[in-house]
Amino acid sequence: MPRTPLVVGNWKMHFDLDRATKAAIQLKNVLGDLKSSVDIAIAPPLPWLVPVEAAFGRTQRLELAAQDAVPGTEGNETGSVSMGMLRDHVRYVLIGHSERRLGKIDTHETINAKVKDALRRKITPIVCVGEFVHLYDRSRRRGRPTKLEAESNIFMQLRRALRGVKREEMSKVVVAYEPVWAIDTGTPAEPDYVEIMVATLRRAIAKLSSKRIAANTRILYGGSVNGKNAADYAARPGIDGALVGSASRDPKEFAKVVAAFASK
Ligand code: PGA
Repeated sequence: MPRTPLVVGNWKMHFDLDRATKAAIQLKNVLGDLKSSVDIAIAPPLPWLVPVEAAFGRTQRLELAAQDAVPGTEGNETGSVSMGMLRDHVRYVLIGHSERRLGKIDTHETINAKVKDALRRKITPIVCVGEFVHLYDRSRRRGRPTKLEAESNIFMQLRRALRGVKREEMSKVVVAYEPVWAIDTGTPAEPDYVEIMVATLRRAIAKLSSKRIAANTRILYGGSVNGKNAADYAARPGIDGALVGSASRDPKEFAKVVAAFASK
């Protein structure tokens, strides 16, 4: 079964309501009628999720992702928003983004609980994995982390995120490979490097589940992807899409990334 490319725009903590709505309308105008088989999702800041949903209207092309959510439906958890509350609004949820891992807002345990709860509620988890910051610091002294360091770090994250997830559910998980040193730095990881890491991630998924499931699992790349470099990643057979930060805040630029993967 071919893997449908997926391009996700993560607006992070940007945009006021007016700009969010305008960007949503622009995206709808540019991408709403796209016929090709590429899945597209936008992760707006939480308060703008419903207004963006309204701006997208009935378009089938544009879906929504949550930037985060906690397991459960209701509870005495001041400040939290649950998977259950978001279930009718989003198709995807980002889990374990490095900006949350690094601030220790998310741990391996909370990430694992979120993945399981999202699956239970039929929200597709997009599990972000990437080299931790101490490797990044080391990398500043002597280049990148070694392949071995990076791999063991990422596999540990993956293993712990998927702990207890049933084999047959694993193919519903999307994995985003996001090396921390490439996020919002304007220094994307080279496509060659990403291809190797994605292939090793796929082997790790096969070990946790099966070759067939790994072959069906979508693995995205994220880290300074933009309209100019997207085609270089889309050209690699193992890279199934992109998780886009900065460039997703410019609808035209984001549309270029989508177009690169649409012609995959
Ligand atoms: P960036 O962010 O595209 O701005 O590097 C990517 C991400 O944080 O997922």
